[in-house]
Amino acid sequence: MARRATWSQYRESIGDRSELFAAIADLVQVDHALYPGSYVDLSPSTAFASVTYVDTDDRAARFFADRDLVEQELAGRTRQGAGRQVEFLPADYTAPLDLEVASTDLLISLYAGPVSDHTRSYLRPGGWLLANTSHGDASLAALDPAWELVALVHHRDRRYRVTTDGLDQHLVPRRPELADPRRIRATGRGIAYTREAFAYLFQLR
Ligand SMILES: C[S@@+](CC[C@H](N)C(=O)[O-])C[C@H]1O[C@@H](n2cnc3c(N)ncnc32)[C@H](O)[C@@H]1O
Repeated sequence: MARRATWSQYRESIGDRSELFAAIADLVQVDHALYPGSYVDLSPSTAFASVTYVDTDDRAARFFADRDLVEQELAGRTRQGAGRQVEFLPADYTAPLDLEVASTDLLISLYAGPVSDHTRSYLRPGGWLLANTSHGDASLAALDPAWELVALVHHRDRRYRVTTDGLDQHLVPRRPELADPRRIRATGRGIAYTREAFAYLFQLR
C-alpha cells in the first residue's frame, strides 16, 4: 500500500514554509486564511489561528481527517495563538465553497491554478492574496487594478524573506506583449519578469 501523505513527508520535497507564513503574520493581521489547492501543506497553521484548506485530492482529505495526526504534526511548530482551527473542505475551489463571503483575511495561491479568479469573493475588503506566478495567479493579479502589490517573498538557500523594498522593480514583464489575462488563463502559466520573486503579496483595494 502507498505511504500515506503527510505534511512532514511533503516537507521533504517542498521544504518548510513556516518561516514564510511567520513573516507574513509579522507584516499583516491575519486571523483566518483560506488555502485552495493546499494538498497537505499545513505550514500556514504554524502562523495563523484559523486556516481553511481546500483540495480535491483524496490524500489531502485523508490527512486532514486524521485530527490526531494534524495535531501531532503541528506540535512544537506553532507561533503563539496559531493552529487553533484547522478546517478542510474536500471540494473543487472552482465551484461555490461552504464559506461566508468576505470571511477571510488571506487567500493563499501556490501552484494550484487560478485560485484568486474563483475564490476572491471569500476575501474581506482590504484582505491579502499571496500568489506565485507558476500557474499564472500572480501574473493575473499584477494586471488587475483590484490588487495592489504590497510585498515580495524571496526564497533562497531554503530560507524565506518577505520585503516591502523594491516593489516597483518587480512584476515588470520581460515581454509586455505576453501580459494578457486571456492568454495567461488559457495557458495556465504565468509570464516571465525582469526580476523574479518566489511569491507576491497583494492587497485587495
Ligand atoms: C501542485 S499541488 C500544490 C500544493 C500546494 N499548494 C503547494 O504549494 O505545495 C496542487 C494542488 O491543487 C489541487 N487542486 C488543483 N485544482 C484544484 C481545484 N480546482 N480544486 C481543489 N483543489 C485543486 C490539487 O489537487 C493539488 O493537491
